[in-house]
Amino acid sequence: MKNKPIGIFDSGIGGTSIWKEVVKLIPNENTIYLADSKNAPYGEKSSEEIIALSIKNTELLISKGCKLIIVACNTATTNAIDYLRGNYSVPFIGIEPAIKPAAILSKTGAIGILATKGTLSSKLFEKTTKEYTKNITTIEQDGEGLVPLIEEGKLNSPEINKLLSTYLKPMLNFNIDHLVLGCTHYPYLIPQIKKIIGERVTIIDSGEAVAKQTKAILEKHNLLSTSTTKSHHQFYTNSETKVLSEILSDVAINFTVEKSDF
Ligand code: DGL
Repeated sequence: MKNKPIGIFDSGIGGTSIWKEVVKLIPNENTIYLADSKNAPYGEKSSEEIIALSIKNTELLISKGCKLIIVACNTATTNAIDYLRGNYSVPFIGIEPAIKPAAILSKTGAIGILATKGTLSSKLFEKTTKEYTKNITTIEQDGEGLVPLIEEGKLNSPEINKLLSTYLKPMLNFNIDHLVLGCTHYPYLIPQIKKIIGERVTIIDSGEAVAKQTKAILEKHNLLSTSTTKSHHQFYTNSETKVLSEILSDVAINFTVEKSDF
């Protein structure tokens, strides 16, 4: 079991921001990544639809022998992880907006959260916010429209920059000092986001924390790979391979991208 792959899924290419952190930390693990781009954005779907899509992705990864699954999508985690953990025996790692560290670190007492509608309206998000932001002003913003543009590869486009300005500028009026990126697609927009919010606001994304948690859970279950051969990384997308391949072009390790109907 130790040398079986880690499975990762997202509504598309965003979860590669998590995958990159995982392979940096535990480079001798094999991985299988599912980019469910055909069904993106998850953030505009109902909780029931998000759970159904998460089940589909999980079952495919389990059928491919994955020893652990990373739900590299805030929207899928906040809506479906309880169901997944309750119904499958494989360990799951999820990602949710890093509200707790932002609230603890904030000096102005105001933080911004940019996430999808599906995440912001989830019960898990409500619970976390209630628990950690009692004396903190939280400015929640739905990033509607960003994920489809990122999926098209329009990372530094006028459309993206216009949406980011509309979503982020009002947060500055509340004197936020931390901005939580609550969607795994958004780290690809960090340069553009920095131009709008400036250096005074710290951006928090959880990629590194997810990688550390993955390693810790593999250790706990005695599942860390013992393989000494070169690791293999298989990506499947149910849309075009072009943007996914482009977003992985800064990675210096071997991987394969394949179009597949799932
Ligand atoms: N990467 C997903 C997330 O972290 C994007 C959700 C979507 O498809 O709307 O929430």
